[in-house]
Amino acid sequence: MAYETMDVRPTAGALGAEIYGANLKDRDDSRMWIELRQAFLEYHVIAIRGQDMSLEDMMRVGGKFGEPCYYPFAKGMDGYPYITEVIKEKDQRENFGSDWHTDTMYLQKPPRATLLYALETPARGGDTLYVNTAAAYDALSAGMKKLIEGLVGVASGGLKHKKGGPRAAHHDRIGNMALQNADKADGFEARHPIVRTHPDTGRKSLYVSSLHTIRFDGFTEEESKPLIDFLNDHCIEPEFSCRVRWEPGQLTIWDNRTTLHNAINDYHGYRRQMRRLTVGPEVPA
Ligand code: SIN
Repeated sequence: MAYETMDVRPTAGALGAEIYGANLKDRDDSRMWIELRQAFLEYHVIAIRGQDMSLEDMMRVGGKFGEPCYYPFAKGMDGYPYITEVIKEKDQRENFGSDWHTDTMYLQKPPRATLLYALETPARGGDTLYVNTAAAYDALSAGMKKLIEGLVGVASGGLKHKKGGPRAAHHDRIGNMALQNADKADGFEARHPIVRTHPDTGRKSLYVSSLHTIRFDGFTEEESKPLIDFLNDHCIEPEFSCRVRWEPGQLTIWDNRTTLHNAINDYHGYRRQMRRLTVGPEVPA
């Protein structure tokens, strides 16, 4: 599709585009919104530069992509319960989102999209990596596709395989964010197909990560782990990836159905502040 209302610049071969000239203050149901949704489906991750977004703007833009979802592990902002702050202070060592994952796959209806808006970014570093899990699926052998077709993954919010310990230890190390519910984390568990089909494009993708998928339904954790790790490591091969650089006033929107992401923790000594909203609760199929 040709883009007429914005300048769309692909950032890598597999996924990702930077968007210039889109005015997210536009309240009409104009062609710009159609093109924005099209770019989201085509590139999976769109980094929209040069915005000045209030909390209300963020809710309105999110609404173009679906109903808002609660994030169970951080308190929402005053008057905006669906928007959470993602902050790393200058003197903090641990960051939020630094292992490969797709957002909240341990919910029964995980969000189709995440919106992340940058308020303050480090002088260097603090980029986010993304991979295209539909391209990763396509690249599997016919034998592996057959083996995993029909497998159901059990996703947990407990972060039991996280380096440094499970969710409570992670929350303690982060310290400054309004994190909550670490004691209930193991109770957030959902079963979803390992191979899912995108409802808009019909494309199959891998829906699995070593961080959240603890086993396959009907299998032990021990039996499942080698294949979960193989699929995770396959997804994060460089040829399926792109890197998003941030600047204040940038809104990045990604498709959780076809991507994994990883917030790089390489900016100790600098502050980074973002606002995050997930939208579009959807049962993966
Ligand atoms: C997230 O995992 O949702 C946060 C990503 C980031 O801060 O770059």
